[in-house]
Amino acid sequence: MTEEFDLDDARKRYHFALAPEDYERLPFYSALLHEFEHDTIALELLAGVRAEQRNPMLVLATLQLAALRGHDVLGPIYDDARHGVLEDPKGAATRALEVLHAAPDLVRGELWRSTQTNEPGRSAVIQAVVRDLAGESERINVVEVGASAGINLYFDEFPVRAHDDGNPLTLVCEDVGPIDRSRPLPRVLSRVGVDPNPLLLASHEDRLWLKSCLWPEERRRHDRFDAIIAAQPSWPTVTMLRGHAKERLSAALALCDDSAMTIIVNTWTAFYFTVDERIAFFNDVAHRCANDNVAWLSIESTMVKWPDIDVEDEVRHRAASQIVVTRPGGSAIRWGWCHAHGRWLERTTAP
Ligand SMILES: C[S@@+](CC[C@H](N)C(=O)[O-])C[C@H]1O[C@@H](n2cnc3c(N)ncnc32)[C@H](O)[C@@H]1O
Repeated sequence: MTEEFDLDDARKRYHFALAPEDYERLPFYSALLHEFEHDTIALELLAGVRAEQRNPMLVLATLQLAALRGHDVLGPIYDDARHGVLEDPKGAATRALEVLHAAPDLVRGELWRSTQTNEPGRSAVIQAVVRDLAGESERINVVEVGASAGINLYFDEFPVRAHDDGNPLTLVCEDVGPIDRSRPLPRVLSRVGVDPNPLLLASHEDRLWLKSCLWPEERRRHDRFDAIIAAQPSWPTVTMLRGHAKERLSAALALCDDSAMTIIVNTWTAFYFTVDERIAFFNDVAHRCANDNVAWLSIESTMVKWPDIDVEDEVRHRAASQIVVTRPGGSAIRWGWCHAHGRWLERTTAP
């Protein structure tokens, strides 16, 4: 069977999995990805994943899932990584690879899952763009396609700062360009999510998987996740619809208050669509923006190519996410760029 797998493609995916700025601050994940890039079993595991989920982060998340479930070797390694006390990241990566060699089914048996990283850092980007799209409107609706556990449907619950203020819910984002965070955010009337596999923050199993998708060396992300679990019961209600975008978008929009503009948001979701699905989704959303009080905000990898939007081949932006928007009655334009987890945001359009 292995001859069917494209190991070169898998090697490239491991190689480019992290942004250049992430290598230094994530020595364990960097070392692990380096090991995997040169290891036949790790390459075969990734190459064997169904095309739409062939993402190195899925393989890494399944390994962390074993750790969180108490694996005797992986458990202590990931625990130390999460607490910033892993003394020998390269040695730890080698030990993790040995575990994979001894028991590849530990990972293979979980590769049916999907990468469902629900990254609140993207809410810092959503806030800035929503403020711009809403303009003078004081009320909006938000429909998120690919909402995972719905955390970014609470985008307005997170303080955004340029520096860490010690509050685990604070999103730290460096703004570049004309971004005004001083104006209040519009009030959100309806919050609706669509996902083929909605995750529940109240479910222990779902929480384990959401945690597995977080990078272990980013303690702040883990602390934030725990703070979200504690705070979420007091946050506004969201409605989640189970299903694919193409099946459920109309139903989601129908749940919104039609006295206000609805912003359709997708963040790292179209990445998992086929090329045909992306085009169909783009055309569907373009039609709605042209004819209804609907706007679109897309934050996706540069591997997601949208019609009429060129992706410049700049090194700085290669691992960044591309922000594309459409205003009601308008056409899709690139608004700017951001770090995949919202660590920085660059606006390249005029306000
Ligand atoms: C990487 S997660 C991103 C979650 C969230 N948007 C965020 O940025 O935190 C991708 C999500 O897209 C969902 N998804 C995949 N294919 C989809 C489809 N055809 N329609 C709607 N959601 C989809 C997955 O189930 C998953 O929850």
